[in-house]
Amino acid sequence: MNLRRTLIVGNWKLHGTLAGNQTLLLQLRANLRGLDAVDFAVCVPYVYLFQAQQLLSGSNLLWGSQNVSQYDVGAYTSCISAAMIAEFGCQFVILAHSERRMLRLESHEVTAQRFLRALEGGLTPIYCVGEAQAERDAGLAEEVVKRQVLNMLHSLDDDAFARAKQLNMVVAYEPVWAIGTGQHASPQEAQAMHAFIRELIAARDPLFAKRIRIIYGGSITADNAQEMLSMPDIDGALVGRSALVAETFTQICRIANDLSLKSHQP
Ligand code: PGA
Repeated sequence: MNLRRTLIVGNWKLHGTLAGNQTLLLQLRANLRGLDAVDFAVCVPYVYLFQAQQLLSGSNLLWGSQNVSQYDVGAYTSCISAAMIAEFGCQFVILAHSERRMLRLESHEVTAQRFLRALEGGLTPIYCVGEAQAERDAGLAEEVVKRQVLNMLHSLDDDAFARAKQLNMVVAYEPVWAIGTGQHASPQEAQAMHAFIRELIAARDPLFAKRIRIIYGGSITADNAQEMLSMPDIDGALVGRSALVAETFTQICRIANDLSLKSHQP
């Protein structure tokens, strides 16, 4: 039996307007009603968290932020703390997205601190890993992802790890070359990397490794969701561009829900 409930997360990135969000969120809320076999969420820009809370409370569409500060409080202009985010009813926080790492806005040390703050705030981290094209071409994909996963695992002492398990932390495998390019990893490539990530986690905690959701991100569309989500170690998707249109995001969510229902049939 699959211990892992599929998770589909929309990552809005730097997109949105109050009026456009209202339409999108209300459509999604209506479209996803009754799809109960899968978890759904949208990670919106900070300024729209209040709107997400207003429009999504009581629905089966959860919400989250796209980052969190490593600080709790103080003279840190423009920072947003985990406690602030939690006040808006957020469940998830995306951490270490490659668009942050590539802009050199975050080191491993900073990400590790943000991870801890997220846990303290009761937020479920979605920790992103993934290699760049040049790294894959050089045969270094596994090595790069291993370093990223181990950096995260090593930064969590036993208490923090226990908290991460309790909050059901998520890993997102997002090959950098697949993000926003229309060129997704093949199901086999992604499956191999997801299984590898699970092994790395199993070295620390074999039981949790069976339970942790490892989701795929990078050019997921309604056309490729079925084949990607059918792989045994792909437990969901982190969806960028296709999450910005109600119709396509709904289609991906429906596919995930149908697959889950099928996999639970006797
Ligand atoms: P994409 O983005 O679906 O537009 O490739 C995914 C992501 O960066 O999370």
